[in-house]
Amino acid sequence: MSTDFDLIVRNARAATAADLFSCDIGITAGRITALGERLQAGPGTREIDAAGRFVTPGGVDSHCHIDQPMLPPIRMADDFESGTRSAACGGTTTVIPFAAQQRGQGVQAAVDDYHRRADGKASVDYAFHLIVSDPTPEVLNTELPALIDRGYTSFKLYMTYEDMKLDDRQILELLEVARRHGAMVMIHAENTDAITYLTERLLAVGKSEPRYHGLSRPSPVEREATHRAITLAELVDVPILLVHVSGAEAVEQIRWARGKGLNVQAETCPQYLFLTQDDLALPNFLGARCVCSPPPRDKANQQVIWDGLVDGLFSVFSSDHAPFNYDDDSGKRLGGRPPAFPYIPNGVPGLETRMALLFSEGVLTGRMPIQQFVALTATNAARLYGLYPRKGTIAIGSDADLVIWNSGTPYTIRNEALHHATDYTPYEGRELQAWPAMTLLRGEVVWDGERFLGRVGGGEFLRCERPEAARPRPREQSWRRWMELED
Ligand code: URP
Ligand code: ZN
Ligand code: ZN
Repeated sequence: MSTDFDLIVRNARAATAADLFSCDIGITAGRITALGERLQAGPGTREIDAAGRFVTPGGVDSHCHIDQPMLPPIRMADDFESGTRSAACGGTTTVIPFAAQQRGQGVQAAVDDYHRRADGKASVDYAFHLIVSDPTPEVLNTELPALIDRGYTSFKLYMTYEDMKLDDRQILELLEVARRHGAMVMIHAENTDAITYLTERLLAVGKSEPRYHGLSRPSPVEREATHRAITLAELVDVPILLVHVSGAEAVEQIRWARGKGLNVQAETCPQYLFLTQDDLALPNFLGARCVCSPPPRDKANQQVIWDGLVDGLFSVFSSDHAPFNYDDDSGKRLGGRPPAFPYIPNGVPGLETRMALLFSEGVLTGRMPIQQFVALTATNAARLYGLYPRKGTIAIGSDADLVIWNSGTPYTIRNEALHHATDYTPYEGRELQAWPAMTLLRGEVVWDGERFLGRVGGGEFLRCERPEAARPRPREQSWRRWMELED
């Protein structure tokens, strides 16, 4: 057996989405080249002893917003330097943020702009999803097919937000492109007209504090849009992935769709496990820190989300990191004064805390086996977005992206100890029992438990394959057949 490893991680309790086993992990030129017992070191081999520790694949955070251009004066607090530094220190080695098309702009222009923001700054590996907000014939027929060919194989569409939302006809057109060219479609499902209607009525009677954000987007708003998204995808006969699912009513729709045999994937996020509407109701505008969409709901809904994570309804657990400073007039205090809820920038930071929150509260409490944690935080996202098996697993040939865990030791989340540039965390003071002791990106230590050791610009851009999971069903099972439509 070869001894010319650059690095051996010894005595790992290695977890994949399928297995948990003890082994040494041999790494050569950034990739895993051996898994075995008592691997032999060569003259230049470095060693890390992971005795007694779980080792999982580096996290794949497949839903995060980093340096995404906003309508001025709104500005995201994290650029690629701070966002990916924070990811590395929290055990995430691959991020997939969004190149967002502005109306009137092409998607290619958005991708070019986003590369300028990311390339040379990211310290973990990165791919891009696209956001399509203006599906012109040029975008649908020329730009998207060309971008999919070049490794941008997923896009998000919005059913709400004035500057992003698509109508049903536009959604159908976009789903058709995804079906024809093999892309994965992510959908933000909230009924925009219902939100506007409720918002106007709340504001008309002076209800403008952050907590009314939640009341302007109650569960039926998400339930209706979830059902509609599923139905539109059924008509086109294409898989979809519903992002940031917040509670029971949307979950019910997804279970119904699965029961019908539809290929509907679902993602949820820490804010729907660890925050509630009470956090939105904190006094003195503090609730603004937790304004995100869909909003955090109540304890009963949290339990339904936990159940869905454990029983396999959700395949992805991502952060939806959307970093806006709290004490900043280009962030939550837009314009220098506390704004009414519809004008508070939406989103919470979470890149660095995502993995440890689920490890501590999911694995160490016994709610889920570590294999499921791996599936939810790394493997499934890599598969769904065309990065597997290079990312998301511990296997021979995969990139040596690893997290060595410090587990069973108390860790208190404090914003001052985090590495993002956002001025708060919604999880301030929360006690965990786990934190990454070490993160390796392609065999290099980027976090040693105390210090960020990564390199600005050390992250590589990843071209995504067409995801297997985005493939429509075989024709004989397809609804399109009954409609006598050609493929
Ligand atoms: O409130 C949220 N989720 N902000 C980020 C943008 C989005 O819709 O994912
Ligand atoms: Zn969204
Ligand atoms: Zn998002």
